[in-house]
Amino acid sequence: MFVLDLPPDELRALGHYVWDRLVDRWEDLDVQPPIAPLQPPLELPPCPAGPTDPKQGVDFLFDTVLPRGQHADHPRFFARIGSPSNPISVLADLIGTGHNTFAGSWTGGAGATALELTVVDWLRGWMGMPPETEGILVSGGSVGTLTALAAAAHAKVDDRDQATGYVQEHTHAAVGKAWRILGFNPANLRVLKADPAHRLQPAAIDAAIHIDRQAGLQPFLLVGTAGTTSTGSVDPLHDLADQARQEDLWFHVDGAYGAPARLTPRGEELLSGIERADSLVLDPHKWLFQPYEIGCVLVNHPGLLQHTFTLDGAYLRDTTNDHVQMRERGPQLTRSSRALKLWLSLTTFGLDAFRDAIAHGIELAEHAEATLRSADWEIVSPASLGVVTFHRPDVDSDAMVRRITASGYAAPSTTILEGRTVARLCTINPRTTKRDIERTVERLEK
Ligand SMILES: Cc1ncc(COP(=O)(O)O)c(C=O)c1O
Repeated sequence: MFVLDLPPDELRALGHYVWDRLVDRWEDLDVQPPIAPLQPPLELPPCPAGPTDPKQGVDFLFDTVLPRGQHADHPRFFARIGSPSNPISVLADLIGTGHNTFAGSWTGGAGATALELTVVDWLRGWMGMPPETEGILVSGGSVGTLTALAAAAHAKVDDRDQATGYVQEHTHAAVGKAWRILGFNPANLRVLKADPAHRLQPAAIDAAIHIDRQAGLQPFLLVGTAGTTSTGSVDPLHDLADQARQEDLWFHVDGAYGAPARLTPRGEELLSGIERADSLVLDPHKWLFQPYEIGCVLVNHPGLLQHTFTLDGAYLRDTTNDHVQMRERGPQLTRSSRALKLWLSLTTFGLDAFRDAIAHGIELAEHAEATLRSADWEIVSPASLGVVTFHRPDVDSDAMVRRITASGYAAPSTTILEGRTVARLCTINPRTTKRDIERTVERLEK
């Protein structure tokens, strides 16, 4: 009699079967559409009272449920920001789930915590932030931003109604969302106009701060983006860090997708100043090739995360000791170990493979830019951190992107720049080839 279990032989066979199906998926990915055409919602049967064949259930997931949607690891998924995952990290997720790993306390997960502190410190070092910087792995950029802004508020804000922050028009909406969730006054998040290169303009910040201080508001937050989602532009990070210091503001950097580029020589140059952030968010599930979900928030104020997220309760007494408790660095108490996948993939492939894969993404966007230029497209924003945007007056970008996506060959996306809808390619997948780019541009032509 097995209670919520299967005999070991059956489990082994089922596991092999699932892994085979996954490897088949990866082998066939190229011939699948990067984004499945929208269909009517699935009609699902009611929950059965008795057992059913798990293999049938597995097939149903693979064949019917999961093909619906986007495949952000597809080599021609150029939309928004892809998630070009790797299979070793998938195994690590399985290992973590198989151990039902608890990474919320030292008692609950001493090994997992040690691993997390290690990979967080690797990330910290690659970003050039000071050794005393602390961090935590979270679900992604949105929760990372929420965590960072909660810490910033804890450190700097007395009155959330007067607190004022500065972003630019291309700052990711995750910042505005965190702002609202944390109870700041939505009217006090200044969305400044970007310069023609889609970067924050320090002079505009100066002017806005001056007006706000005169009005009795309390400026406390300046957000720079290291890789905007629309164009890959990088705000002038050193200027912003200087301004933040002068004006006593918290300097948050959103490097959710772009920050890992600092691992390459060109990225290091472009992202110079990122290391001066008070808080930095980066998402390994974007340009560090991890499957969802894994983001990281780094805060250069020792002890602040713990003060912000401190948690006690009589029921936790037995797990209180002198070690780091990850439950006190972020919003979650019960949390799985996101460190396993980053650690296992980095140690399996080595850091140089990651560097090369990121450099490849940067080069692919440049190749896309050159290919588009020679086909007479207007380059609206040149290749930057793996993103290029383009337009042609006689082409409806929305219709073009819809058509090529519906064809199942490639999935670019659109964005709005200076009031115009333009097309956009994000080329961060190391499995994408130059030929993929050329064929995609040929098809856009048609
Ligand atoms: C620059 C930037 N910030 C924040 C986010 C939000 O990250 P997530 O979707 O992991 O919550 C994204 C997502 O694409 C992003 O590109």
